[in-house]
Amino acid sequence: MRLNFGIITSLLATATCATSIIKRATISQANGSDYKLQDGPLDTPWTSKVGTNPWPEYPRPQLKRSQWKNLNGVWRYQRTTVDAPPFDESVSKAVLVPFCLESALSGIMEERTIYSWYKTNFDVPSDWTTGNRVLLNFGAVDYNTTVFINRQKVFNHVGGYSSFAVDVTDHLSSNGTNELRVFVHDPTDDGTTQIPIGKQTLNPSHIFYRPCSGIWQTVWLESAPKEHVTQLDVSADMNGLVNITAYSSGNASSPVEITIYEPNSEEVIATAKGSANSPFQFKVDSPQLWSPKSPTLYNITVKLGSDTIQSYTGFRTISSGEVGGIPRPLLNGEFLFQFGTLDQGWWPDGLMSPPSREAMVYDLEVLKEVGYNMIKVEPALFYQACDQLGLLVIQDMPSLRQDAPSLGDHNPACGAPRVRVNSQAAQAEFDRQLAIVIQQHKSYPSIVTWTIYNEGWGQEIDKEHPEFRLTDMVRSIDPTRLVNSVSGWDDFGAGNFHDNHHYANPQCGTPYSSRASTPYDPRRIALQGEFGGIGANVSEENLWKVPQAVNAIDQTYELHHDLGTWNYRAHLLLSELKDQVEMFACSGAVWTQTTDVEGEVNGMVTYDRRVNRMNKEQWRNDIQALYDAAAARAGNSTSQMMPRAASPDGI
Ligand SMILES: *[C@@H]1O[C@H](CO)[C@@H](O)[C@H](O)[C@H]1NC(C)=O
Ligand SMILES: *[C@@H]1O[C@H](CO)[C@@H](O)[C@H](O)[C@H]1NC(C)=O
Ligand SMILES: *[C@@H]1O[C@H](CO)[C@@H](O)[C@H](O)[C@H]1NC(C)=O
Ligand SMILES: *[C@@H]1O[C@H](CO)[C@@H](O)[C@H](O)[C@H]1NC(C)=O
Ligand SMILES: *[C@@H]1O[C@H](CO)[C@@H](O)[C@H](O)[C@H]1NC(C)=O
Ligand SMILES: *[C@@H]1O[C@H](CO)[C@@H](O)[C@H](O)[C@H]1NC(C)=O
Ligand SMILES: *[C@@H]1O[C@H](CO)[C@@H](O)[C@H](O)[C@H]1NC(C)=O
Ligand SMILES: *[C@@H]1O[C@H](CO)[C@@H](O)[C@H](O)[C@H]1NC(C)=O
Repeated sequence: MRLNFGIITSLLATATCATSIIKRATISQANGSDYKLQDGPLDTPWTSKVGTNPWPEYPRPQLKRSQWKNLNGVWRYQRTTVDAPPFDESVSKAVLVPFCLESALSGIMEERTIYSWYKTNFDVPSDWTTGNRVLLNFGAVDYNTTVFINRQKVFNHVGGYSSFAVDVTDHLSSNGTNELRVFVHDPTDDGTTQIPIGKQTLNPSHIFYRPCSGIWQTVWLESAPKEHVTQLDVSADMNGLVNITAYSSGNASSPVEITIYEPNSEEVIATAKGSANSPFQFKVDSPQLWSPKSPTLYNITVKLGSDTIQSYTGFRTISSGEVGGIPRPLLNGEFLFQFGTLDQGWWPDGLMSPPSREAMVYDLEVLKEVGYNMIKVEPALFYQACDQLGLLVIQDMPSLRQDAPSLGDHNPACGAPRVRVNSQAAQAEFDRQLAIVIQQHKSYPSIVTWTIYNEGWGQEIDKEHPEFRLTDMVRSIDPTRLVNSVSGWDDFGAGNFHDNHHYANPQCGTPYSSRASTPYDPRRIALQGEFGGIGANVSEENLWKVPQAVNAIDQTYELHHDLGTWNYRAHLLLSELKDQVEMFACSGAVWTQTTDVEGEVNGMVTYDRRVNRMNKEQWRNDIQALYDAAAARAGNSTSQMMPRAASPDGI
């Protein structure tokens, strides 16, 4: 499946040795009066509501501390061509963090922002606990970030889709005012390197989009004791077994205390004690299970010394098993047909960052309304919303650029030229970032499957077949989920799924297939990783008004000029999918796609989210028919289902 990505957090704190006193003082926030929202190619109903305090929500719901301060807002920016620190006043343009530099919401909206400087001032709130450390957190910055506090370099982070935390305590000034500068290098696909970028390109057209450089997720400060939890891994299964690892910034075996509460209540249902940095388990009797129908979540408190954090989990088991002789994905031991959408997560105003949480949740509700139960990818609060709404998530790794840098700025059409990896270093970096992405997202109950490669992009096949060892690696980091090693195209048998991509008609679990895909492999679960993609052109007011994009509209796999015809075709395609559920081995499918993106007009809603193309009643019925067909196929009897854990051998 295609890609694109969100981020979350988990602290990757630097080691700390000395306690220093928190500086106390107050300064005024950056003067934002010169920030100007740019007039972009298209806006959304939320654009004008963003203001200058965007994304005020606590950004990391699975590792929440009480003392924190949001640094989002108007900062200063300077585009540069070199990476030498310009510690002068040239960093003076107003930029709205956390919207990437190419977006209208950033107030910059420049292209090819490859080297950038950011600057802001901050103070540490005077009521924060004396003696605690001050951690500076970044939700995500694309791509290579160097952090300076009071003009001293303190940290470097490489990777556009992972969160990081910097312990800045020892660099704070004694007068209370601190200067934060961030230098970012984001080459995207400038031809100098091959890095995970997903669908970003410097030359957007058709299925590749305007890139997103610089800070694109919330930046915030928090106060934590010297020894604190840096990362929390939580999983909980259908039998009530909770498995927790609390990683500590300090001593390896410090005691950890866990309390788990009745949903929506203060009542404690279990407590347990373990040690930091090693997994420990305990049992909760007869928990209410998490599922799309009933997404029950349980709050958790974790104590490590004087550090107390809030988190949550959901009890569910993801596995694979044969039902009536066909390999199926199981949720809590039962075959659940997974019907989802390809969710690029791009916005006309914020590009990779949704303008607000409300806007982000709007997309999810559009899907839930007609009965989708699955989606893909985004920011921490996105996964929390999926956990709460009961949407299953298939999470992709952002792909490497699909052609060799030596080919310059050329974006191949699907299918040519073949995708290869430019160097061992590029492969090693992809592997490293894949591990981080899994690690940082693995505690969300809504994620059911990891996808490593989409349509062969950045998938080496000449020198090695990395999907086999990467599938093993993913399973070793997270043994509780299934792995879709290759979504579409170059399938050599790795992973739990046989995933067909075909437009517009599905070929889900069918003994026939078209170019670039293979007929169904009965050893694995059949997934239609992409189908649909039918488009309907809209009037100019709902279009991304960039000529290059508008000129690519005719590349849409199937283009209709009225919504009646578009809905009729969708009905036929969903009916064909239903036939494949009834006749063949189809276990799930992904419709392309949630929204239009730039020159793609194949969304269920337009890029500005102002037009919903669906005849909702028809879609609800057609989607319900898929679940009914799957239930009938499974005999609608749990007794026929033989759950088994996702094993390293797959099925
Ligand atoms: C904020 O910046 C604007 C434009 O640079 C300036 O006119 C104004 O005086 C500043 N306000 C404060 C309170 O510094
Ligand atoms: C990241 O940027 C830093 C500072 O500019 C540089 O020293 C380092 O080599 C870069 N790393 C990568 C992997 O590009
Ligand atoms: C506060 O300290 C910082 C770093 O030591 C320095 O750059 C800044 O000029 C000082 N500000 C004042 C108002 O003294
Ligand atoms: C607990 O989780 C860890 C990984 O976080 C895993 O290695 C271990 O096998 C799990 N234990 C159980 C009993 O599930
Ligand atoms: C580790 O434990 C030792 C002995 O209990 C203690 O002196 C030290 O402060 C601890 N280190 C941290 C980082 O908590
Ligand atoms: C978890 O706790 C928060 C407040 O601490 C509360 O708002 C929320 O409803 C609780 N969630 C559940 C599922 O109990
Ligand atoms: C789509 O609509 C836009 C504006 O309404 C128009 O400019 C463009 O030519 C149309 N494209 C196609 C392929 O119909
Ligand atoms: C199974 O059949 C029962 C009785 O007909 C029905 O109520 C239930 O909804 C069905 N389950 C599924 C998953 O379709």
